[in-house]
Amino acid sequence: MQPADRLEVSLRPLNPGDAPAYRSFRIEALRRTPSAFTSSFDEESGKPLAWSVNRLAGPDLVLGAFDVAANLIGTAGLSVPEGRQARHKGTLFGMAVASSAGGRGIGRLLVQGVLESALAQSLLQVGLTVTADNTVAAGLYLSCGFEVWGHEPRAVVVNGNAITKVHMVNMLDGYRTGNGVRSRPMPIPDDGG
Ligand SMILES: CC(C)(COP(=O)(O)OP(=O)(O)OC[C@H]1O[C@@H](n2cnc3c(N)ncnc32)[C@H](O)[C@@H]1OP(=O)(O)O)[C@@H](O)C(=O)NCCC(=O)NCCS
Repeated sequence: MQPADRLEVSLRPLNPGDAPAYRSFRIEALRRTPSAFTSSFDEESGKPLAWSVNRLAGPDLVLGAFDVAANLIGTAGLSVPEGRQARHKGTLFGMAVASSAGGRGIGRLLVQGVLESALAQSLLQVGLTVTADNTVAAGLYLSCGFEVWGHEPRAVVVNGNAITKVHMVNMLDGYRTGNGVRSRPMPIPDDGG
């Protein structure tokens, strides 16, 4: 079954007009799975709407997934450093899918959307971190071509518990052919997860 068959969903970059929905979505994601993110529920819910407006007006891509009723049901971001010697690599951040829409391929669509944006910007690689016990997210990333390159003990402390984060990178090599770029990601290897 293809993801599109599982749930009708559309992806587009969020803009400042999406700030109220984006803010609510993020706060709910942080409340639901605090250990999955570096930001905390308390910090984020204390930030004004203007913070979300600024983020969506800024240089980072924040991709949103919407259902047929135009509800925001998923997000994934891509940030790229400004410095000349580091702007070949992006970081995937803020990955979340509403619990009501989970397991229907939306997370995979968002990761693919971020990777396609990275390719369109001629980035050479995309990195991310994922909490060591987050097997669903890690499995998704592995199956999308990310590889583990390190572990960071005590990367975050959530409710007093020190949590290890796994560092992953997708070198995007599998997405390129010669000097060009594939319009679609490579097939996912069977043993990728
Ligand atoms: C991780 C997350 C974004 C995945 O989104 P999703 O839309 O449910 O993912 P998909 O439906 O695209 O599924 C991706 C893979 O994970 C698997 N998966 C999804 N939900 C699962 C679950 N609850 N249990 C086991 N496997 C699951 C699917 O089988 C799928 O693999 P497949 O395509 O080979 O079948 C979502 O679970 C989430 O928001 N989690 C909380 C926040 C979080 O952990 N963010 C990541 C921070 S690094």
